[in-house]
Amino acid sequence: MPSVASASPKIAVIGGDGIGPEVIEQAIRVADRALRTEDVRYVWNPLPWGSAFYRETGRIIPDDGWDLLQSHDAIFMGAVGAPDLPDTVTLQGLLLPLRRKFDLYLNLRPAYLFDGVESPLRDKTPGSIDMLVYRENTEGEYAPVGGRIYVGMPEDTAIQSAIFTRRGCRRIMRAAFEGARRRKKKLTSITKSNAQAFGMGLWDDVFRETASEYPDIETHSLLVDAAAMDFIRKPESFDVVVASNLFGDILTDLSAIITGSLGLAASANINPERIYPSMFEPVHGSAPDIAGKGIANPLAAILSVKMLLEHLGQIMAAAAIQRAVAAVLRARKVRTPDLGGKATTTEMAEAVLAAL
Ligand code: NAD
Ligand code: IPM
Ligand code: MN
Repeated sequence: MPSVASASPKIAVIGGDGIGPEVIEQAIRVADRALRTEDVRYVWNPLPWGSAFYRETGRIIPDDGWDLLQSHDAIFMGAVGAPDLPDTVTLQGLLLPLRRKFDLYLNLRPAYLFDGVESPLRDKTPGSIDMLVYRENTEGEYAPVGGRIYVGMPEDTAIQSAIFTRRGCRRIMRAAFEGARRRKKKLTSITKSNAQAFGMGLWDDVFRETASEYPDIETHSLLVDAAAMDFIRKPESFDVVVASNLFGDILTDLSAIITGSLGLAASANINPERIYPSMFEPVHGSAPDIAGKGIANPLAAILSVKMLLEHLGQIMAAAAIQRAVAAVLRARKVRTPDLGGKATTTEMAEAVLAAL
């Protein structure tokens, strides 16, 4: 059961596949260093789940795995997914059920253009891109509802249904409006009700209804195709964004790259009621193309563990990590290849440790 005030919070660590374990290891070093002045000691409990575990046992997570996870205060995850295994095994066996089983309906994905990082967009000044995406994380287009018949035959037929519920829309929108109140009081809802009139129609209705309870918040509703364009054309115009599961997924790879790299994008999968442990992970995947080379950028994982500390109440340590990351980027000295440098994963993390 997650607790806020525990003196030794227990964290389940699933490094997973590819660069997952590489970046997680460095992020834990940074977290422990940031926590050294606080009177809590985190217990990091490594769980060997992922593709290797599947190859050995035929399971991606053991029978008692979910109960075991639930006995922790939070979960810290690297990434899962391997080129030689279907994503149906790895992602649909572990990551996606985890988000649903633990009702992690709020997926928070910040994107910030740090000083010292070059945006691929021309003339962007530090801090000019600063948005926070509230991605719905338990239903929508990711609902495992549908079926496939006549696989491989000429009649091959698939149905993939999206599920939108009033309750599901309502709770993510409430969270986003509350979040907007803590920032610039501006919220943009991403929709596609011009084409998907049922699900996105409900989404829009609930957005309008919720907006009427927050008259102090400036609201916008934007079609996802236009939003994709505006993330490039005028990213400064976004502050808090609320999006469905799939739209939030796609737009946050976009928000990551316009702020310099997917290697900087952190995320928190939150159960706001704290009935279940929340889960923290970088936005990126297992990056098989660079796995094992020791060159993955650990900052996304480091900024994710920062969100974990914040969630469990270590506000000062979290702020210290944020400042250290900002200082390292501002100095422009140590940078992994995704940021145009030659530093290794370890060197990048050590620069953050030094800044701490
Ligand atoms: P990816 O995010 O793994 O990689 C996309 C590109 O970004 C690659 O070129 C990669 O080298 C680069 N990149 C990603 N993270 C980086 C980092 N920290 N530093 C430097 N460069 C980085 O996406 P993909 O290649 O589409 O997916 C690979 C596998 O990961 C697939 O199996 C996919 O399903 C899975 N995946 C898992 C998660 C997760 O577990 N949360 C998230 C996304 C993708
Ligand atoms: C993410 C990932 C996952 C998602 C995949 C791996 C299923 O892309 O966390 O952004 O789509 O949610
Ligand atoms: Mn994604």
